[in-house]
Amino acid sequence: MRAMFHTVAPRYNFITRAFSYGMDGRWKRAGVERADLPDRPIVLDLASGTGDFSLLVKRHHPNSQAFTVDITERMLRFARARGLPYAVCADAGVLPFRDSAFDCVFIGYGLRNFPNLKRALQEIERVTRPGGLLVSLDFFLPANRLMRILYLAYLYAQGTFWGFVLHGRPRVYTYIPDSLRTFVSIDGFSSLLGRAGYRLLAVHKHLLGGIGLHWAAKEVAPAGPDRPKRICA
Ligand SMILES: C[S@@+](CC[C@H](N)C(=O)[O-])C[C@H]1O[C@@H](n2cnc3c(N)ncnc32)[C@H](O)[C@@H]1O
Repeated sequence: MRAMFHTVAPRYNFITRAFSYGMDGRWKRAGVERADLPDRPIVLDLASGTGDFSLLVKRHHPNSQAFTVDITERMLRFARARGLPYAVCADAGVLPFRDSAFDCVFIGYGLRNFPNLKRALQEIERVTRPGGLLVSLDFFLPANRLMRILYLAYLYAQGTFWGFVLHGRPRVYTYIPDSLRTFVSIDGFSSLLGRAGYRLLAVHKHLLGGIGLHWAAKEVAPAGPDRPKRICA
């Protein structure tokens, strides 16, 4: 997976716009604008790629500090070239940050790619302060069976076309439908967030349920010795 992201890094921004018909920027902007952040927010842009979310946060909150984290060093080189100084190479399953370090964690098309989603959600929850936010934009399996078949077929066709045109390798971008096959629906992910210690705030559905934008807040545990343990299903 890391080798594949290393290969696509120079074309990554273009391909994201192409796959979303240019709507990706609008979705990410909505993700940032609708997130209710404090005055000097400290945020994590996880699985950042070239750092789109970090840049948007900087634009909307000039006093913010955005940590741009990805497992692929080559993606981070592009992020640094875009003026993002806190670019850190790390695995979502073992984040090098203290507990409750962030006001908000943004993730663009990342969760689907993590080999252990449960582990990554535990780490995200750990580094988010109580009441802090998780904003995720991702591909999802449409709930309707016919839509699911058509959507996956469309993503394979689109991926094959751009893989061939940009890299001479038709399989380069078919990781998108490949990773989606075993993923969840938008509503399935909303339920997962509840089990991972989050309260769902809002969901936007795009492309007939093929793209979802979630806002959720980390639950504030009640004070006292009998704090319930959070479980991630
Ligand atoms: C599809 S790209 C998303 C890039 C960017 N967030 C965006 O919205 O355009 C997925 C990114 O996840 C990164 N990634 C995959 N597995 C990861 C992991 N275990 N930990 C951190 N980053 C990971 C990849 O290197 C890649 O840059």
